[in-house]
Amino acid sequence: MGKSTFDTKALLAKMTLEEKVGQLIQLNAGFIGKSVAEITGPLQSFGFDNTMLPYVGSTLNFHGVEEMKAIQDKHMAEDRLHIPLVFMMDIIHGYRTIYPIPLARGASFDPDLVTECSKMAAKEGSAGGVQVTFTPMVDYVRDARWGRVMETCGEDPYLNGVMGAAQVRAFQGDDISDPDHMAACVKHFAAYGGAEAGRDYNTVEISERLLREYYFPAYKACIDAGVTMLMPSFNSLNGVPSIANEWLLQDVLKKEWKFDGVVISDYNAIGELKRHGITGDAKEAARMAFENGCDIDMMSVGYGNHLAELVREGTISEEKIDEAVLKVLELKKALGLFEDPYHGASEEKEKALCLCEEHREIARRAAEESAVLLKNNGILPLPKNVKKLALIGPFADNQEIRGSWGCNGKTEDCTSMYMGIRNLLPDAEITVCRGCSNYFDEIGEEEFEEAARIASEADAVILCLGEPQKYSGEGNSRADITLPGVQDALARKVIAANANTAVVLFNGRPLVLKELDAIAPAILDMWFPGTEGGNAAARLLFGDANPSGKVTMSFPKATGQCPIYYNHPSTGRPKRYPEDQHQPYASSYIGCGNLALYPFGHGLSYSNFVYESMELDRTSMTKGEKIAVTIRVRNDSDRAGKEVVQLYMHDLYASTVRPIQSLIGFKKVEIGAGETATVTFEVTEPMLRFYDAKCNFVSEAGEFTLSTGYADNLLFTQSFFLNE
Ligand code: NOJ
Repeated sequence: MGKSTFDTKALLAKMTLEEKVGQLIQLNAGFIGKSVAEITGPLQSFGFDNTMLPYVGSTLNFHGVEEMKAIQDKHMAEDRLHIPLVFMMDIIHGYRTIYPIPLARGASFDPDLVTECSKMAAKEGSAGGVQVTFTPMVDYVRDARWGRVMETCGEDPYLNGVMGAAQVRAFQGDDISDPDHMAACVKHFAAYGGAEAGRDYNTVEISERLLREYYFPAYKACIDAGVTMLMPSFNSLNGVPSIANEWLLQDVLKKEWKFDGVVISDYNAIGELKRHGITGDAKEAARMAFENGCDIDMMSVGYGNHLAELVREGTISEEKIDEAVLKVLELKKALGLFEDPYHGASEEKEKALCLCEEHREIARRAAEESAVLLKNNGILPLPKNVKKLALIGPFADNQEIRGSWGCNGKTEDCTSMYMGIRNLLPDAEITVCRGCSNYFDEIGEEEFEEAARIASEADAVILCLGEPQKYSGEGNSRADITLPGVQDALARKVIAANANTAVVLFNGRPLVLKELDAIAPAILDMWFPGTEGGNAAARLLFGDANPSGKVTMSFPKATGQCPIYYNHPSTGRPKRYPEDQHQPYASSYIGCGNLALYPFGHGLSYSNFVYESMELDRTSMTKGEKIAVTIRVRNDSDRAGKEVVQLYMHDLYASTVRPIQSLIGFKKVEIGAGETATVTFEVTEPMLRFYDAKCNFVSEAGEFTLSTGYADNLLFTQSFFLNE
């Protein structure tokens, strides 16, 4: 990768120990370039060794190309060896043009679209001075209480890996020195999404078998796709925080997976070894992390204050420091920073690319493709010639729909639901009423009567509900994932006043929608759709676009069902009674079903897709052979649409308990009105492998089933045998 012929080893040979250690430190942009005299406030209280400031090798949290250039110029002028900084940032769902949150992107089931979005973000971000993005986040999740589920693709390890790898390839391209691309950093290794009870940063205890089967595949897929960097997670994993977890970072990552890219700690994760109760000594924390293979310390005082001393006293060898520094210098070389420390960034490019028509169009399409039509009794799509339209609810005219990690995106860039409908239907008579407070905790019912009156006078109502942005994302877990505040009550009032009501949701996680589902004629989930959210929602509601997204994380019927996921292992006492009935002495809840309200793979369309057949070209195979599965789907409607054809596998008998279903293939296909699509999948023996009790990755001969449809609604099932 890269065209640079810069001699990093010659540079390393000229560096002092302090200069070398500096390359292994990452500080916030606000700290960089300050003279020692300026060190007051946050920097002083941070407790960082001031003398190390001029040597710092990388930075994060800067704002745009102008600031980037100013910092880079100052730093390079003052640095004895003129080594450029590398600028890193979290571009999670867009740089300035914001596309839907990753959970929504997963729902698109469209890796090509994810690629398009990531390429656009790479171009904008790179023009704005970003050289490394802390993306993709591929933490496997099962518990919607966790706020960071919005950053993931949900509960399927295979889908997670496909989407993660697509992002790596799109951000990095063939050459990260290309100014349209940048380096990617996969995170958070490992199992950060397994936080106990869905509470962010909480402890994670997961068996090695489960880790390997569900949690590891997506990180590995990103490594196989050539990701440049990796970030260990904040959490402790089976008793040891990831940054100090030798089994994780040495045995698995380095030895088994042969990852030799740059490892960067998460924000102050080295400092947090103290709070984890692993060591009270910052120097010892620095030693542990460094010896465990963490190359860069993001925002703790560990490396800056102690690494040089650890070398001088002989605890850490200078050769080891050299190895890590060389990796960082090689990253700078691969990015072409020794030739162009701005990596092609410029004010003109940033201005021309950010929010340009082409990018807005991609963001709109992405928002349309990832929206999920959860329910529809036929009222959607609404007719465009509707005369009186009521837009009710806290999201009726709310531009706060970017979602957490909006990067440089701005609230005022986003089209609200009202703005989107106004753009689409300039002549419609639209009445907007918030219905209840925007600040969902400060409950007030004062607008209910007004909302009901407006609803009753309208021909159609669009009821815009959801969670505020601040309820999901880092540090934002919820113990109760129902609609916040009085929104269920508002929905009851409005729907009672006008049965021609479609609900539109804005949310960063699956919500408990049992009450709403019982009364709402239609529910369209937009997630946090980004800049073009209102336009996309309007086009979907009025039929200019046809919903095609599918749920990738189960929507529970009650928060108490969490963690709930479609691919759960079989139990010895499965429930056989009807869903609404408790079955004693079976794995069953009292007063609540076992199934999700909206399971993985569920999502409606305005088209009517009829699964006609599923055929296997053979019913047995041995290793090295393959089975072709052909599925025929007819669009029995007068509207073209897209369907996600899903293939599931179940290993009926094996030496360890197997999931009741696992997704092993999917294809999103466009099917014209009245047309039939034929989708073919190949099933090979490696797709049937799993981890046995000794953690060997094996397949075992015997009977398997293949099914299509989705999690709780399998339409065709056929069995086949894997022979010895
Ligand atoms: C903490 C988050 O956990 C991580 O995802 C992010 O990349 C860093 N902060 C840097 O912003």
